[in-house]
Amino acid sequence: MWKDWIRPYVRPLPQWSTVAVAAPQQVVTATLRWDGNSADVTADHTVASLVPLVIATSLDAGQHPLLEYRDSATGKLLGVLRLAQMASVATEKASLTLYHVAGGEHRCLGWPLRSWNAWLQNRLMLKNRSPHHFAPEPAAVQQLMIAYLCPRPVVLVSVSAPGHQNIFPMDLIGPLERSGLFSLALRNTNVSVPVMREVRQVALSSIPATMKVAVYKLAEYHKHPLQDWNALPFPARPSREFGIPAVAASLRIQELSIVHSQEVGSHTLFLGRKVSDEKLAEGTQLHHTAGFHQAYRRRHGMQLAEV
Ligand SMILES: Cc1cc2nc3c(=O)[nH]c(=O)nc-3n(C[C@H](O)[C@H](O)[C@H](O)COP(=O)(O)O)c2cc1C
Repeated sequence: MWKDWIRPYVRPLPQWSTVAVAAPQQVVTATLRWDGNSADVTADHTVASLVPLVIATSLDAGQHPLLEYRDSATGKLLGVLRLAQMASVATEKASLTLYHVAGGEHRCLGWPLRSWNAWLQNRLMLKNRSPHHFAPEPAAVQQLMIAYLCPRPVVLVSVSAPGHQNIFPMDLIGPLERSGLFSLALRNTNVSVPVMREVRQVALSSIPATMKVAVYKLAEYHKHPLQDWNALPFPARPSREFGIPAVAASLRIQELSIVHSQEVGSHTLFLGRKVSDEKLAEGTQLHHTAGFHQAYRRRHGMQLAEV
């Protein structure tokens, strides 16, 4: 149809695509390259802040490494981020490095569609921007989309303390494999940040792809706490050690003991150690990836299942 052909030239691709993927995702591999060295960081890098855009990893990869994302099946380069070392973070037993994203490009669309789509997306972002609302610059959102070439799993984070309970979705999360830490990047304005710093315990429910709609509704709890666990639209079950209500239909429930937290720009970076890990069911987990990544996979007949 001529409409399918013309559409990418008049309308931008969606920034994000929600997909059903078995965790841990293995469709895209992330590699850090610096000074003639390289290391697989598919399970060892995470977003620590959106403004500025900051990546955390257990490795010290020098001052100006490259972070490459490749299709695992074909080895094709999908995108690259240019990083600049910012700081290191020392916890009880491990240390991490924070890298500011200095630049980046993706290769999911051919030229000139790549530049044209970015222009259309950036124009829409600027048009919808509210002066009172938190929003990264369009160039930083383009770089964030590159970081999402590795599909990011969605979890529900549960918090329970005397006088405060909450459950909200997160995808700026991930293992930092070499350090044994697990990170959560939460906007400083999230209502549960002070409580999490105090009680230092959370439960993470890995969400089946089929629960997308219910999970998106819980985004409101980033702003105000949950009044009553019984008000949840799905059954809960207590996490194993802490007894924090988690999602009964989870694929997996992990408990974290938070060993470190600090503000990094717009976000508070929480670092935790796993206290328990219950694998409850097989199935695909809700993930987010970049819209241009899904467009690339569709063009090559290997698209991810969209939900
Ligand atoms: C699936 C999903 C994942 C999210 N992940 C995070 C996260 O990792 N960190 C965070 O601070 N906020 C996260 N949010 C919250 C949003 O960034 C945003 O704060 C929330 O949806 C409120 O939207 P608003 O501030 O645009 O009104 C997530 C929201 C959704 C729906």
